[in-house]
Amino acid sequence: MSYVEIRELTKRFDTTTVFENINLDVDEGKICVLVGPSGCGKTTLLRAVAGLTQPDSGMIRLDQRDVTKVEAKNRGVGMVFQHYALFPNMTVEQNLAFGLEQKKLPRPEIRKKVDGVIELMGLGPRAKARPAALSGGQKQRVALARALVLEPKLLLLDEPLSALDAQIRKRLRDELKRLQHDVGFTAIFVTHDQEEALMLGDQVAIMQAGRFVQIGAPAEIYNRPANLAVANFVGDFNIFDPGTVKRLFAAVTETSWAVRPEAIDIAPADRKPVINGTAVETEVTVTAVQILGAMVRHYTRAQDVTIKVDLLNKPDQRLFQIGEKARISIAKNAIAEMNE
Ligand SMILES: Nc1ncnc2c1ncn2[C@@H]1O[C@H](COP(=O)(O)OP(=O)(O)O)[C@@H](O)[C@H]1O
Ligand SMILES: [Mg+2]
Repeated sequence: MSYVEIRELTKRFDTTTVFENINLDVDEGKICVLVGPSGCGKTTLLRAVAGLTQPDSGMIRLDQRDVTKVEAKNRGVGMVFQHYALFPNMTVEQNLAFGLEQKKLPRPEIRKKVDGVIELMGLGPRAKARPAALSGGQKQRVALARALVLEPKLLLLDEPLSALDAQIRKRLRDELKRLQHDVGFTAIFVTHDQEEALMLGDQVAIMQAGRFVQIGAPAEIYNRPANLAVANFVGDFNIFDPGTVKRLFAAVTETSWAVRPEAIDIAPADRKPVINGTAVETEVTVTAVQILGAMVRHYTRAQDVTIKVDLLNKPDQRLFQIGEKARISIAKNAIAEMNE
């Protein structure tokens, strides 16, 4: 049985259905990353799990307990938002102690827990500072610490890094992953960022217009997108519709193919064709070659179709010339067949 179980959950606002009969499972100690376009219902789902909005039907179970009707403060769920709502008139320490004081914990215990989380999050030097004196990254670290200090059963993070600049964002992302490893919390994390989703998630759930179109491990989402929307989210696929597949590869398919640029092999046109049926191939003309760092991106054309091919930028990598004829091959197991 999963630690978090969302069953047939439905939420409407007046006549608008935000989501209908959705299901999600999260295992204990894992991060489930929720991604999807703006307005698809991510925040509403988190709010329903937190108990901040009541679903119209369905059930939410947390650690084997039905919490659907339980008040927010009794669910043991912590939330962190994009905009850190810290108390401006309190120091970092006081902000961290606040929730524990509300719970009427004994003073020494509060002290111990606050010190522990300050240590854990590296906030020692800022313990006596007020929020106004903190950088955005520090504020968000305090917001996270404030949620963690209450030892929630489940942590809900709604785009917590979105307001930060790229460098801080990456650093906090790494820290969060380390924290999860050290503390072992269970979380649902919402983001727009592809890299963040794949790096942080033990599981990635892709939401679209109030339903999940794919839920899977990052590698699965990355390599086997269920449809075009998922492929677009995880970026940079070659998409071949059935007609194109037939023309270029003389293969028959009813669904479109999605193929990663790095999953395509390119070789000089005189290389021996693959004939054992484990790959498809076609002739192309190289139209551009770009060094992207670790990868060399080749833009090629086969008939009227542009195909992106990435090779690892090894020191001995043979560079193709613009206008050179070449042959590309795609291993059949590198082809993701998509539903839509
Ligand atoms: N309190 C509310 N009243 C009416 N409609 C709302 C309310 N909150 C959210 N919605 C609507 O529900 C949909 C999903 O919103 P939201 O969950 O915030 O999406 P996301 O977080 O994925 O961007 C949107 O169409 C939004 O306008
Ligand atoms: Mg939102």
